[in-house]
Amino acid sequence: MIEQPKIVKICDIKDETPNAKTFFFEYMGHYDPGQFVMVWIPLNDEKPFTLSYINRNIAGITVLKRGNFTKTLHTKKIGDQIGIRGPYGRGYSLIKGNAATCIVGGGIGMASIACLADKQENATIVQGSRTMPELLFRHRYKEMRLCTDDGSFGYKGTTVDLLRELVGKHDYQKIYACGPEKMLYKVYELCNEHHIECEVSIERYIKCGFGICGQCDCSGQRICIDGPVFNSKDLKDMPDFGKTEITKSGKRISL
Ligand SMILES: Cc1cc2nc3c(=O)[nH]c(=O)nc-3n(C[C@H](O)[C@H](O)[C@H](O)COP(=O)(O)OP(=O)(O)OC[C@H]3O[C@@H](n4cnc5c(N)ncnc54)[C@H](O)[C@@H]3O)c2cc1C
Ligand code: FES
Repeated sequence: MIEQPKIVKICDIKDETPNAKTFFFEYMGHYDPGQFVMVWIPLNDEKPFTLSYINRNIAGITVLKRGNFTKTLHTKKIGDQIGIRGPYGRGYSLIKGNAATCIVGGGIGMASIACLADKQENATIVQGSRTMPELLFRHRYKEMRLCTDDGSFGYKGTTVDLLRELVGKHDYQKIYACGPEKMLYKVYELCNEHHIECEVSIERYIKCGFGICGQCDCSGQRICIDGPVFNSKDLKDMPDFGKTEITKSGKRISL
């Protein structure tokens, strides 16, 4: 049964990059890093976002300005109201103890993986973007490896280039990643090559968010309820991963 969105007031807004803002609101529920909520703007639409911050009863979503919905959200002010339902889906699974892990965020994908990076001990955090101003949460973590495609900050190259170097030097037990699907696919291939377990968060067009419409199918897995986080074993049986997706009008297209 569809859950009614809970109406919440935006209690703070933070500019993260020239095109990304974090909106904070009161949040009382349970949340596993990597799960998502559906955000409703009355008379506009309802769209999926991962919680990028959670602290006591306050949560945040970090939103990149793209089309109609996100541009409208970016006009909201402190005190304005939005609707939230969820959380939905399956998040990342944390490793306890001293195992070395690596957490990779490409572009706005860093928002999905940020709460995991807050919790997972001993993780190397890799964040990459095309250019320096797009780097997210640069000062949030004690140690973070940063890279830019154009070399304007940190390592010059992609997150996958940097990860390849790190994998050669560290004995990672697991690699977590969120970002563009082409990047995720390369991370998955690199992990297979080195026999490292991986977990990636996949994006598909989400309509219902709780498993009834089939819009978010990826090789028989519903991203909204079976994912959005999938591990190496799941991905092996998902030939659509990195290859095809369903558009909002229901057509399957190549990625
Ligand atoms: C599980 C999940 C978590 C996400 N978390 C974040 C996040 O933390 N921060 C963030 O900035 N973005 C996140 N997104 C993407 C976000 O939902 C889209 O950027 C947003 O819906 C764009 O809407 P728009 O109207 O502004 O843009 P549009 O012009 O409608 O679309 C721009 C692009 O956004 C994507 N998109 C649009 N509508 C949807 C939808 N209903 N479901 C999935 N993708 C859509 C499409 O790839 C499209 O090409 C997440 C998506 C998923 C599936
Ligand atoms: S969005 Fe409807 S089943 Fe996933």
